[in-house]
Amino acid sequence: MMHSIVRYPLLPSLLLAGFLFSLLCSARTVTVGDICPKHPNPNNCDIIMMTIPGITEGADIDRLSSYFIRLGLSKTFDSVTLITEIIANSTDTQLELRYNSCTMDHTDAAIYLSEVRSSFSSGNFDAMKSNCAVVIKDVQDCDTKAYDSPPLRMMNQGLVDVTNIVVILADFLAGKY
Ligand SMILES: *[C@@H]1O[C@H](CO)[C@@H](O)[C@H](O)[C@H]1NC(C)=O
Repeated sequence: MMHSIVRYPLLPSLLLAGFLFSLLCSARTVTVGDICPKHPNPNNCDIIMMTIPGITEGADIDRLSSYFIRLGLSKTFDSVTLITEIIANSTDTQLELRYNSCTMDHTDAAIYLSEVRSSFSSGNFDAMKSNCAVVIKDVQDCDTKAYDSPPLRMMNQGLVDVTNIVVILADFLAGKY
């Protein structure tokens, strides 16, 4: 060992630098039990979180945040696809107007989820939360118009649940917990 230190004089400082770097970047992890008791729908939260591999040992907060923001975005696209189908199937103008408005809500939700992603990337966790609040409001607006489509209401609930998980993750990222 002495030998290699002499032959590679930079090695000890490299090791020290690596150690300090890993301390600075030490991934913070959370489990279901850290997140779901803080969630407005703990049972739904449990079901969503249990789909994450390795969650029982703890999952990295950054990775979870990216994952759930992406999942939320894909849910807005799925919702718009379903709404398009509902409108295509309908012959009722009033219903079409209602669901067109729902499309706009979900389009707005997608825009704000992109904002959630930007604020997450730039470390602005307050903005991350306020952008999540807009997403939830948009989806709830759609939900009041979607009273005659249980499948869409289920998708809306799923998106609200996922977004509420991102709100809790933002609090962890901000060091509130
Ligand atoms: C639209 O109509 C088709 C054919 O009747 C049906 O299979 C489909 O489930 C309907 N979709 C929606 C969203 O109502």
